[in-house]
Amino acid sequence: MIHPLLTPPQGPLQVPTVAPTSGSGTAEEAVRQVVEPPLSVKFSLVIPTYNERGNVSKIVAQLTQLLDGFMPGDYELILVDDDSPDRTWQAAQDLTAAYPQLQVIRRQSERGLSSAVIRGWQVAQGEILGVIDADLQHPPEVLLKLLTATMAGADLAVASRHVEGGGVSDWSIVRRFLSRGAQILGLIVCPSVVGRVSDPMSGYFMVRRSAIAGPHLNPVGYKILLEVIGRGNIGEIAEAGYVFQERESGESKVTWKQYIEYLGHLARLRSRGRVGRLRQKLPSSFAQNFPMQRFIRYGLVGLSGVLVDMAVLYLLSDGLGLALTRSKIVAAEVAIINNFLWNDAWTFADMVKRQSGWSSRLKRLLKFNAICLTGLVLGVLLLNLFYNLVFGQNLKYISNLFAVGIVAIWNFWLNLKLSWRVTAINEKD
Ligand code: GDD
Ligand code: MN
Repeated sequence: MIHPLLTPPQGPLQVPTVAPTSGSGTAEEAVRQVVEPPLSVKFSLVIPTYNERGNVSKIVAQLTQLLDGFMPGDYELILVDDDSPDRTWQAAQDLTAAYPQLQVIRRQSERGLSSAVIRGWQVAQGEILGVIDADLQHPPEVLLKLLTATMAGADLAVASRHVEGGGVSDWSIVRRFLSRGAQILGLIVCPSVVGRVSDPMSGYFMVRRSAIAGPHLNPVGYKILLEVIGRGNIGEIAEAGYVFQERESGESKVTWKQYIEYLGHLARLRSRGRVGRLRQKLPSSFAQNFPMQRFIRYGLVGLSGVLVDMAVLYLLSDGLGLALTRSKIVAAEVAIINNFLWNDAWTFADMVKRQSGWSSRLKRLLKFNAICLTGLVLGVLLLNLFYNLVFGQNLKYISNLFAVGIVAIWNFWLNLKLSWRVTAINEKD
């Protein structure tokens, strides 16, 4: 029997603390309920679609097979289609005869990826709420790792391209650069949100209902995970690596508009009330959370690098009589390698344990190198800024002191987040 379409919820984008009794109940009604009926399934997975007719039967078949083996009868799939011209909603509805766990929403009065996901969660019956792309670019198997982590207590479990086992298939250097650039920008504008996961752009994750129910969500564009982290009450986070697959059918809906929307979203998250209040008590919470011991080690390693740099420079330019610039480039690179080896063996030793192997070591070295280079550029800019505009020309070394200090924190922070980071879930398998 084919299921009727579910009515898309109206009103504010807000996940109810308890599951709605009928598919059409608004969030407001559900929140007001006093008695909590038991949730009828453990896991609700939303599949947002727009013109994915060629993919729906495949993704639904794969997800069903996987979840039937893992939690038979204890999950639901909710496909939220935005009235696709290719009638994806209809293809999906036809599937409900063969897949009774599948529900379909056809939205006609609203559009957009993030709001589609939240509308799906609003009708969900599960205690754990998830999202996965319909185009098979997110490998379904990773779901089980995410589920396992969530059931073990994580509030949020994110499939990540940037942890062990993760990656992108065939991306051009430009696309990788844009993706990482967006992440670095996010780290600068809104570190308390973007810095919490290694892949803040991921659209493949699950979250405990209790961690996200309540607040009004207001995501723009594609990056709903940012909204979940920024407005939810998220404690423990787990991550699992995945390789972003190439699309076989249909096409991506991302355009330049999404990059612009991303910037707007960051700005909004930054100014939201909670962060404002957090920032007022920053000195204390900053002191508590800042990884001071690691930073001190990082600083000591940095000092050793200065000595190495000096020694090599002396050896090459005075000892062997090479040109100054050439000597300095070699000296700086030797110092960078020196620092990398010490940091890898000491500063971040605990994190290295979980990502052994030469290829990942080499990858860390390359990232470290790249970040040191951005640090160099930043340092030159800051020195000029302080020297010419802030402290004035007779305080050159004070200016440089500030530049060096800021660059040290910048390098440390980016290396912590981008070069050495790993997350708990990888330990287990
Ligand atoms: N309902 C609905 N409405 N679904 C949409 C819309 C929309 O306006 N726009 C896109 N989708 C659906 C697509 O049909 C697909 O299932 C999924 O959302 C992702 O869209 P793509 O256009 O394929 O995005 P991508 O391949 O560039 O992926 C990027 O965004 C993903 C967000 O989910 C990457 O950043 C991924 O890591 C990320 O997972
Ligand atoms: Mn895609």
